[in-house]
Amino acid sequence: ENLCDIAPPLLKWYDGHRRVLPWRENPAPYRVWVSEIMLQQTRVEAVKPYFERFMEALPGIPELAQAPEDKLLKLWEGLGYYNRARNLQKAAQAIMAEYGGRMPDSREELLKLPGIGSYTAGAVASIAYGRAVPAVDGNVLRVISRYRADGRDMLNDKVRKSVEEDLKAVMPKDRPGDFNQALMELGAIVCIPNGAPKCGECPWEASCKAHIEGRETEFPKKAAK
Ligand code: ADE
Repeated sequence: ENLCDIAPPLLKWYDGHRRVLPWRENPAPYRVWVSEIMLQQTRVEAVKPYFERFMEALPGIPELAQAPEDKLLKLWEGLGYYNRARNLQKAAQAIMAEYGGRMPDSREELLKLPGIGSYTAGAVASIAYGRAVPAVDGNVLRVISRYRADGRDMLNDKVRKSVEEDLKAVMPKDRPGDFNQALMELGAIVCIPNGAPKCGECPWEASCKAHIEGRETEFPKKAAK
């Protein structure tokens, strides 16, 4: 199924519905990176106070690289998955040592850093640096699987890669960060998991294959065990 018409209605919807978030109003690379790592395990509303406190205590990559471990872990307390905080610091140290303290701007360089995978690399490259790179997380996979009534296993790495390629091809080159965040936002507030997606509020209501067929809750398909 073709994704070529998805961007204009999606961006128009996003312009009317985007939430004001601290890392959106000032999308500096360090801020985008830290926020995306926090958001991998915790909801937006819960992340906000942690994010603000973290930025005050460790305002940049040099401070993060040099922070005593107890201070770092204290800032992370309650978010869980402490290896994410440790990897954040390891990556900050690598950025100091290998990139003169400047966060790399390409997907390939970002992927070399500890704790940065395909999703986070895409988010930083697109949101902070305006690069046309997709950022595909579970929300985005759900939205796209429904849009195309795509019954493939969305947890499969090859499937994720093919979705990344398809999205890259239709990404507006002037607004890659907004495009990626609009997809995440659609998945978070309209095309929600489980229960009933709010198709009446969706900018793609008329073209979503799962909705047209009345099968929106069938996707994403659970892999056979
Ligand atoms: N979840 C993960 N990244 C996000 C972002 N940049 N905006 C909103 N929700 C998100």
